[in-house]
Amino acid sequence: MKSIGARLAICYMIASTVTFALLFMAGRYFIEQHAIHALDLLNRSEFEQLKSGVGSVADTSSTDVLRQRLRALTDDPELFQVEVDAPGGEVVFRSQGLDGHRIPADPRGAVFNAVVEGLGEMRAGAFSLGPYKVIIATSKSQVRVVMEGYERTFYELLLVMVVVSSVIGYAFGRIALRPVRTIQDTANRIRSDNLSERIPVSAAKDEISDLARLLNQMFDRLEISFDQIRRFTAEASHELKTPLTLVRLQAEKLVLDGQLSPAQEQSVQVQIKELAHLNRIIEDLLLLSRADARAMTLDLKLQDPEPFLHSVSEDAHVLAEHRRLRFFFTHHGRGQVAMEPKWLRQVLLNLLSNALSASPPGGRVTLRSTLLDGLWQVSIEDEGPGVPAEQREHIFERFVRIPSPGEDKGTGLGLAICRSLVELHGGRIYAEPTPGSGLRVVFELPAATASDGPADAPHGTTLREADAT
Ligand SMILES: Nc1ncnc2c1ncn2[C@@H]1O[C@H](COP(=O)(O)OP(=O)(O)OP(=O)(O)O)[C@@H](O)[C@H]1O
Ligand SMILES: [Mg+2]
Repeated sequence: MKSIGARLAICYMIASTVTFALLFMAGRYFIEQHAIHALDLLNRSEFEQLKSGVGSVADTSSTDVLRQRLRALTDDPELFQVEVDAPGGEVVFRSQGLDGHRIPADPRGAVFNAVVEGLGEMRAGAFSLGPYKVIIATSKSQVRVVMEGYERTFYELLLVMVVVSSVIGYAFGRIALRPVRTIQDTANRIRSDNLSERIPVSAAKDEISDLARLLNQMFDRLEISFDQIRRFTAEASHELKTPLTLVRLQAEKLVLDGQLSPAQEQSVQVQIKELAHLNRIIEDLLLLSRADARAMTLDLKLQDPEPFLHSVSEDAHVLAEHRRLRFFFTHHGRGQVAMEPKWLRQVLLNLLSNALSASPPGGRVTLRSTLLDGLWQVSIEDEGPGVPAEQREHIFERFVRIPSPGEDKGTGLGLAICRSLVELHGGRIYAEPTPGSGLRVVFELPAATASDGPADAPHGTTLREADAT
């Protein structure tokens, strides 16, 4: 069973039900003993009455006289059964209720249980009256009735006990595990971009607060390490930028001077290209580390994203045409989004560059935008090979690339930058497969949408390939 809460509830239920059952069984034993003892006292008091009623007849008179006396005295044949045996063992008298049967005596004790034919189980006592042995027995049926009622009540209460103890156990488990859930929730929230949050530690000095303290110390160490890495990346990138620019300028100057042999010039051109690539990686790393450290403050302005999308789609159309691909753009809905166009443009161009690289010759790339129900959803879809399901989440991590033949040499930072920028806008980004084989990368930002019009008459623009030119 996965949940500790459920396990606690079951343990509590079993423990309390077993305790309840044991107490009930002990209670049953004591009540039965008490009732049997009461029957013994009743038998004895009946004997005392017989004894005083018989008087000296038992010693002096004939058995007939004794029998007559006893018959007159045992006027309650329902309650007590009496048998009087002579010293030789023969029966001198027996109540009518015995119907000719004997009460089987137990030689081991003065009080005993006996089963009398036709009357069932009885509680009997053996007493001496002069030379005679008197056995007085009372039916145990009343005791049995009481005990059966007791057992019925027990089973009913046991059922109630199981239900009540399960509920109490569940509530108890929830209360006991509340601090653990708090730890779980906080630890879940703490990520690389949120390392300053800590688990609340209760004043009580118990195992849970010790664990919370221990985890907080671990988060302290993690935060310090992350900070060091970020600072190192930011500083190293910054320090590398200036010398790199100088090297590139020098190389460009060499080419411009025109004094190089063709072979030398080609080699310098390769250097310039690689330097540009290196420069881009450094720019990307710098941007990522600033975004991670929240050192970037966005100048978010509430605006209608439609004009911005039109401008991006025009550039996208040119880029697609350059690669002999087809580009489509659709926009639906009305509203405003808090955004900084400069960064969202970079997000869209990164996504577009991936989609164009992945597209087969003549393939189509679609930019779709919808403003609906407080959400601005933008997607870029292509007809390329797509990304396997198990890799779809990883492509947003740094330096993760899925190499494919003939594809442009990338650094694997584009989508990581997209994710950082979208998250800085308070949104999220994810990838999903298209109905065909391609990939659809979607980002969603919170929006102030106009009370959306009827679904059959949406406001929107559909730019077909020809419209964008
Ligand atoms: N539309 C797509 N179709 C297929 N694979 C894609 C698509 N977009 C991204 N990928 C895969 O995800 C990987 C990561 O993409 P990302 O944009 O982060 O890096 P990159 O394009 O390789 O390099 P960079 O963008 O930094 O130049 C890519 O290498 C590619 O394998
Ligand atoms: Mg890319």
